[in-house]
Amino acid sequence: VRSIDANAEPLPPFDPPAPHSEAINTEYYLGSAQEEAKSFAEFASQIRKIQEKQASDHGQPMQRGFHAKAHGCVAAQFNLLPERDARTRFGLFSGRLAQGKVSWPAWVRFSNAVGWRQSDNELDARGMAVKVLGVPGKKLSDEEAETQDFLMTNSPTPVGGDAVDFMAFADANARGQISGLGFAVTHAKRGAQALMGTTPIASAVAETYWSGGAFHLGAHQAIKFLAKPCATDHARNPAGAGAEGLRADLKAAAAEGFCFRLYVQFQSDAFRTPIEDAAREWSELDSPPVPVAEITVPPQTLDDPARDRFCEKLSFNPWHALPAHQPMGHINRARKYVYGASNAYRGGGIEPKSLSVPP
Ligand code: HEM
Repeated sequence: VRSIDANAEPLPPFDPPAPHSEAINTEYYLGSAQEEAKSFAEFASQIRKIQEKQASDHGQPMQRGFHAKAHGCVAAQFNLLPERDARTRFGLFSGRLAQGKVSWPAWVRFSNAVGWRQSDNELDARGMAVKVLGVPGKKLSDEEAETQDFLMTNSPTPVGGDAVDFMAFADANARGQISGLGFAVTHAKRGAQALMGTTPIASAVAETYWSGGAFHLGAHQAIKFLAKPCATDHARNPAGAGAEGLRADLKAAAAEGFCFRLYVQFQSDAFRTPIEDAAREWSELDSPPVPVAEITVPPQTLDDPARDRFCEKLSFNPWHALPAHQPMGHINRARKYVYGASNAYRGGGIEPKSLSVPP
């Protein structure tokens, strides 16, 4: 096995190595780099058509291709755990950025997953997107300067093993929930079970959220990450119900303050914890979660319309990242193209520098 300097930048994926050779499993999964780039550019135009169709079918403005409905954005503090494992100490988790800073301001947006606003009682996945602010250094995306984003949904596997599956689902879903469900049933073996497993939830702050795809943590390691509520020992009493119940509950939780703990799961081997097939869940037995940080949400109110407008304009993207956190796998490489397209089409793109909300 070729040794990789832990502090080097991740290498780009390579063409599949010889059979049975060992590698970090970042091969081009469906063809070459050029073929990938071509199909990803097509996905970017496809997401715009999906956005247009969803807006016109639901009589709503142009909005995110996915995760259109926010329950709210909360101001948070991202605190590295002092006792975190040595294997986690790369990139933002190194504790060596910005003169050893270990606590960073962050915005967290909670959302439903479909690309239009619908009742919280509908079948859907949920999202938690974290944007850490003021992070210095070179990033993987040209469109931002000082943020490190972590995007998660409340399913350990995304819809599909790769971006081809995902976009086929996206297309079916935009045609209405029935065709989306039909797709899920016929493609259940290919990972669309993520949608089938999604049921209405009572509280966005009582869920566990997973990255779905894999990421580097340093040049030599592959991880997935997940966030669990800090207080798993006692259940919250959800404070909302009905079409806008998750916002009502988030408001109640934010008034008291709450907290999530961020964990990483290290790749154990290329078979039980594959990178290119995102539909294969990395079980906690094969890859136990290792705690890294706490995302603390201090008591606050969510009634300000200016904050909601700001929340809508924020642009989360897994490629808003330090090289040490480079996204891996076909499903994640596609996101570099698709998020930018969706974001530009809806007129989003605020990359905040602080927790203050513009009027
Ligand atoms: C692999 C697992 C994935 C996870 C965990 C995930 C999670 C998320 C989350 C949490 C958001 C909401 C961000 C916000 O609050 O603004 C989001 C937005 C979005 N996702 Fe994903 N996603 C995944 C895969 C994908 C894939 C494969 C695609 C398409 C190729 C995709 C397309 C989008 C788009 C277009 C948006 C809206 C972007 C914008 O306009 O700002 N996602 N995703």
